[in-house]
Amino acid sequence: MLDKIKKKIIGVLQKGTETLLPNKVGDLFEELIVNKTYKDTKEKYIQLLSKNTKFEKSFIRSLINKLEIIDNNIKCAHGPFELYLMQASLLALDLKGPVLELGCYKGGSTAKLSLICNLTGRELHAFDSFEGLPPPSELDVKHNFIPWISTKKTVHYTCGSYAGSLEEVKSNVSKYGNIDSCSFYKGFFEETLPNFSQKPAFIFMDVDYIESAKNVIKNLWPKLISGGYFFSHEALVEDYIKEISDPLWWRTEFNESPPLFYGAGYGICWRSGKYSFPSNLFYFKKN
Ligand SMILES: C[S@@+](CC[C@H](N)C(=O)[O-])C[C@H]1O[C@@H](n2cnc3c(N)ncnc32)[C@H](O)[C@@H]1O
Repeated sequence: MLDKIKKKIIGVLQKGTETLLPNKVGDLFEELIVNKTYKDTKEKYIQLLSKNTKFEKSFIRSLINKLEIIDNNIKCAHGPFELYLMQASLLALDLKGPVLELGCYKGGSTAKLSLICNLTGRELHAFDSFEGLPPPSELDVKHNFIPWISTKKTVHYTCGSYAGSLEEVKSNVSKYGNIDSCSFYKGFFEETLPNFSQKPAFIFMDVDYIESAKNVIKNLWPKLISGGYFFSHEALVEDYIKEISDPLWWRTEFNESPPLFYGAGYGICWRSGKYSFPSNLFYFKKN
């Protein structure tokens, strides 16, 4: 049964670039984790990406090897496969424009994105307080997870968690990523984002707080290029998803309905099957 589904998905994937949407490669990753056929599956992933993008297999293989080195050397607050999923979208993205990262922690995701940006001729703009989380508002002290999908029930946040100084992040990116592709913006989002005037093609927001996320969306949604991707962590956090997708908030801020949130509530990637490994990623797209 699983084989049948897999064949179907691969068939769809082989038809064109748009089919490289991340949730469609989820089954390959499930196999990768569950059956431990890492090398085979990695090879399939490489083949798939090279077939559907302009990039050679050797190029993709060396990129993945570098991402693995980052996982082994920098403390990251994301799963390795989450970056593979965003990598698939970025390699297939046929839109000019920089990549923006909101929330760097120690610079693991920054280093990975910087390598992908360097190889695809994009700039990476990385925003963070570089002092960790600000004091939480009442809304952000505690969030509930989606009850039936996550093994955890709640998450509690405190000021200063996930701190990585600018020096530490820069040093990690210099060692393991490509620092020349990066610009860094130190400060709280409400101070740094309003002055940013470029139009991004791809955004990765990993900021934990609802208040921070709303600030990011408020400043960047209008600037995102049509067809551009807006990825976010916290797909499995019920309170976060509920607040971020509030129709009244979208109507008040942008005079529009919220976009479709792909993966919200279950996480793109390992979403079904005998074994369930939900990622914590969802995304929305600008029309
Ligand atoms: C979970 S960590 C990011 C993890 C990182 N992307 C990774 O994969 O390793 C959250 C980050 O968001 C930053 N952050 C949250 N709210 C912020 C705000 N309002 N202004 C600036 N930085 C903020 C924190 O400093 C922290 O580095």
